[in-house]
Amino acid sequence: MIDRNTVQQILDAADIVEVVSDFVSLRRRGSNYVGLCPFHNEKTPSFSVNKARGICKCFSCGKGGGPVNFIMEHEKLSYYEALKYLAAKYNIEVKEKELTQEERNAMSRRETMLAINDFAMKHFQKNLTDTDEGRDVGLSYFRERGITDESIEKFSLGYSMDSRDDLFNYLHNTGGFDTDAIFETGLCSKSNFGDTGFDRFKGRVMFPVFNVAGKIVAFGGRTLKNEPAKYVNSPESSIYNKRNELYGLFQAKRAIVEKDKCFLVEGYTDVISMHQSGICNVVASSGTSLTDGQIRLIHRFTNNVTVLYDGDSAGIKASLRGIDLLLAEGLNIKVLLLPEGEDPDSFARSHSASELNEYIAQHETDFISFKTAILLDGAERDPIKKSAVISDIVRSIAIIPDRITQSVYARECSVALEIDEKLLVSEINKVVLKNKEKDFEERQKQKREEEKQQYPIAEDKSSDNRKDENPAIVAPSKILGRINKLVLYEQEIVRLLVRYAMMEYSGEAPLSEKLDSNYTVAEYLFEEIEADGLQFSSPVYDKVATAIRGMLDEFQTALSEKIASLNELYVAERNAGIDKIRNEAITNIAEIEIAESNLENELRIRQKERMKAFRNDYVASRFVSHQDADLSSIAVDMLSEKHKLSKIYKKDGALIEECDRIGELVPRALNNWKNAIITSRISEIYEQLKDNNIPQNEVEQLIIELQQLNSLKIQFASVLGERVVLPKSK
Ligand code: CTP
Ligand code: MN
Repeated sequence: MIDRNTVQQILDAADIVEVVSDFVSLRRRGSNYVGLCPFHNEKTPSFSVNKARGICKCFSCGKGGGPVNFIMEHEKLSYYEALKYLAAKYNIEVKEKELTQEERNAMSRRETMLAINDFAMKHFQKNLTDTDEGRDVGLSYFRERGITDESIEKFSLGYSMDSRDDLFNYLHNTGGFDTDAIFETGLCSKSNFGDTGFDRFKGRVMFPVFNVAGKIVAFGGRTLKNEPAKYVNSPESSIYNKRNELYGLFQAKRAIVEKDKCFLVEGYTDVISMHQSGICNVVASSGTSLTDGQIRLIHRFTNNVTVLYDGDSAGIKASLRGIDLLLAEGLNIKVLLLPEGEDPDSFARSHSASELNEYIAQHETDFISFKTAILLDGAERDPIKKSAVISDIVRSIAIIPDRITQSVYARECSVALEIDEKLLVSEINKVVLKNKEKDFEERQKQKREEEKQQYPIAEDKSSDNRKDENPAIVAPSKILGRINKLVLYEQEIVRLLVRYAMMEYSGEAPLSEKLDSNYTVAEYLFEEIEADGLQFSSPVYDKVATAIRGMLDEFQTALSEKIASLNELYVAERNAGIDKIRNEAITNIAEIEIAESNLENELRIRQKERMKAFRNDYVASRFVSHQDADLSSIAVDMLSEKHKLSKIYKKDGALIEECDRIGELVPRALNNWKNAIITSRISEIYEQLKDNNIPQNEVEQLIIELQQLNSLKIQFASVLGERVVLPKSK
């Protein structure tokens, strides 16, 4: 759907560090960047980004790839959508036609819902500025509250008409969206009569909730009337899990990274007012207590969180527990208590930016001290209450992952709580230990669940549906990651690719039907690799393969040009040759014919040699001078003599060059590789079976897998054992 040039343009523009930085706070470490992995929960960074190579990878969970892969995985997008995302990021124009109804149907439900929300947001915006009702009711409300046009723009605020089904009709009739998808977003609810719907947010000002990637996953609507529900929010759906979203994060993330700090407030208006007074690193939990999903989201961008409390917040004590979660995540937490009667919204509006900053600087306190002070208030003279406070504080300190931070707190709190520091430390250690045990049990339990899910057919022993799978595809990447010697087999594949990628391949009958002379070694190898789901465990090899794959199209063009020019050359040389024969004083017709046919044979051989040289040289010449140092050094290495097979002589003493044997060498290298994968999986299973603690059903599964692998191995042995040159199909 996107033309090749544009794709290339996008790929060229996409800088892995920039792309990842939108979601992960990266720090330089040596030649790499590291950060907390966005794909799994972790407290110490194992996500590494290599700018030069254009790849990222988590050394703990293994996820990663180039910019496109990263976006696909992170944003749960298709390849096409990920490209579009990157195109938008780098202002690269992607020419696209309007979606037809058919294409729209083909969009996944999730994408459709996001498109609906986006469509609705634009409608709400238009309502706000382009209708009398919107201006009179919505816009004047925002103005009254001091919300600027700039903020309205920045947060895409809008207005939902006070009508039963204005939005529904717009989405359905103008947008042409599927009614079920509309209902699923929660923007409208299904009416009991036919295919119509009611607007959920009628007569409300609208706050779209953007996810971290900038897609609208939900809306909050504030009423302007005397209704019991001040705010109505979108229901949870396949695109909206409120536990994993933070209002304002999309608009704040850059500032959070820049300031290396995130302010946490309660609501929509707090976020907007803070922005207006110049503090943009602020997010809201939207009135509910923080969840670990939200905390992880913050943690991707910074280690430092300051929680803002209303001066008269009755809920401070209740919210303390939620803050403990932040501590457990390893964040540095501070607390800012606002003056009586103020919330972040009112305080930000009634103070200048510099006053606000000054207040923050002076009143920000460390969370543990804050909590200690709050809990201790009124409990000092009550031993029972006080000991409860102490154990609460001990629990908080104990969940801080960093031991040094713990000891600092222990010292401070021992003073505030007036108890012996050693005693406090030993109490903390007890809790740490208990937590560790709990953690361990939790993980064991989780592991067992996961195993159960991996082998869901354990109960039903009669039907072994794993048999249908091609056992050669036993998640090779998983194994490859661990078993280093597989790299040797990958190396041979890459060597053949670098040397002979564009050589004609007519060896073993390939999977596709396409058997014309354009069929290359590279295409054969890629088809095989894809068909069996093989992956290079080495990122560099992977990159080489990807680069070669990227040359295939160009090569076909170059090839037809080459053929054309060789044909011209052939005609010219032939004419010259024939002239020469004519000019030589041969009069015998038969001799002339012999001379001419010799000439033609000679020319044909010369053509073949030229063609061979062209194909042989194509990849090598491009790699050797490649600007990517990885690629050029690998290529030079692979092309060097040490990587050449020893010469083989035919019985008659003629030399067979390696490139004359690719029909044999290439499938052989593939089979060796697959065989190695199977072998390593087999030994892995033997290792697993040594463990006496694995459940019986798992043992059975492993044995079944083992049998399948062994029978495959026997098949490979028969292929690999025959040291014959595979027959050529021509
Ligand atoms: N909230 C919500 N649903 C509600 C009430 C509150 O989602 N029924 C969330 C909103 O994100 C709201 C935040 O909790 O912004 C804080 O609630 P509240 O203090 O009541 O609202 P304010 O943001 O102060 O709104 P306003 O100033 O317009 O009254
Ligand atoms: Mn308010």
